[in-house]
Amino acid sequence: MTSTWVEPSNTATALLLLGRGTDPASEAGVDCPGDLPSPSDPDLVARAMAAKLALGDRVFVLGHHYQRDEVIQFADVTGDSFKLAREAAARPDAEFIVFCGVHFMAESADILTTADQKVILPDLAAGCSMADMAVLSQVETAWDLFEDLGIAGDVVPVTYMNSSADIKGFVGRNKGVVCTSSNAKRALDWAFEQGSKVFFLPDQHLGRNTAVLEMGLTLDDCVLYDPHKPHGGLTPEQLRDAKMILWRGHCSVHGRFTLSCVEEVRERIPGVNVLVHPECRHEVVTAADYVGSTEYIIKTVEAAPAGSAWAIGTELNLVRRLADAHPDKQITFLERTVCYCSTMNRIDLPHLVWALEELVAGRTPNQITVDPDTSAFARSALDQMLALP
Ligand code: 13P
Ligand code: SF4
Repeated sequence: MTSTWVEPSNTATALLLLGRGTDPASEAGVDCPGDLPSPSDPDLVARAMAAKLALGDRVFVLGHHYQRDEVIQFADVTGDSFKLAREAAARPDAEFIVFCGVHFMAESADILTTADQKVILPDLAAGCSMADMAVLSQVETAWDLFEDLGIAGDVVPVTYMNSSADIKGFVGRNKGVVCTSSNAKRALDWAFEQGSKVFFLPDQHLGRNTAVLEMGLTLDDCVLYDPHKPHGGLTPEQLRDAKMILWRGHCSVHGRFTLSCVEEVRERIPGVNVLVHPECRHEVVTAADYVGSTEYIIKTVEAAPAGSAWAIGTELNLVRRLADAHPDKQITFLERTVCYCSTMNRIDLPHLVWALEELVAGRTPNQITVDPDTSAFARSALDQMLALP
């Protein structure tokens, strides 16, 4: 059987232009200062290869699974955010870590690498809308409320990797842990050994899906804290009774998949296996056949028998690569309209070439640094994650 991959229409979500807009309120909404090569330069691939060759072992390029093909081809290692954090920590000899991913991942790499190493994000505007949904001052307001109610001592903060270094620092300061989509259950197991409640930041869906589908908690054990409402929109009783206090944040990419997408694909492709990321809404994950991180999604498709049919609910670059790599399986995208992560897509070949050539020229472009105080606390929350059984 040949692949029946159909390119989704691109009418619903246009890619953000790879421009120079500035939004100081966002995680990383800043101009790229560089003089970028033209995207139509026919020598871009050769220039990237030459720059990498010139830098040799001084540079190590990490590529998240949601990156464009044109960028992934230059990654020394590809992975999900957990694997990339470990890879960054395991490369103390590389002078430069070029992170083809988003800002919070580069911050984590900076925290996990040595003081001499420099982490570079080829486009500083590659932020994450989910990470932007939890701002330190808002989280501190919530914690003050827990203290006023006398419950802070029972609460263990757990933050998804997809959060700013400030939030990871807050979590480390309050003896919590970072998690990713591949170890969220282990992180929650650990957290519930430390306290009776978890404050889960910033992805409500990963928190709820893990608590209910993997930990045996009920939806009633979870409450949703809305930072834009007084007291999070919750009563003291709700906060006292809750086991999981979920921050009202979500991924704008995975949040697009709905229950009707699952129903529609099951009708269209009888026998299809629905495979989704845990950042999807609870009703989508509940209706799916398999759920897991990007690394899990890749392994599941690799292990699937030829001829099997898969509808995958995660970022489009990854799903398209899987379809290309497995022409013997029928791989389709769960949502009919395009679903790239627009900020992941900001890292394109012109930005990568520019960043590598700057390094060759002896300049360090777009270095991501976390201040030492934040870094020390964030590191303890990250180390706790890396030490999970
Ligand atoms: P993972 O890499 O942990 O699967 O997370 C997906 C994601 O949204 C990264 O931004
Ligand atoms: Fe953020 Fe979602 Fe994009 Fe990941 S896919 S970087 S969580 S917006």
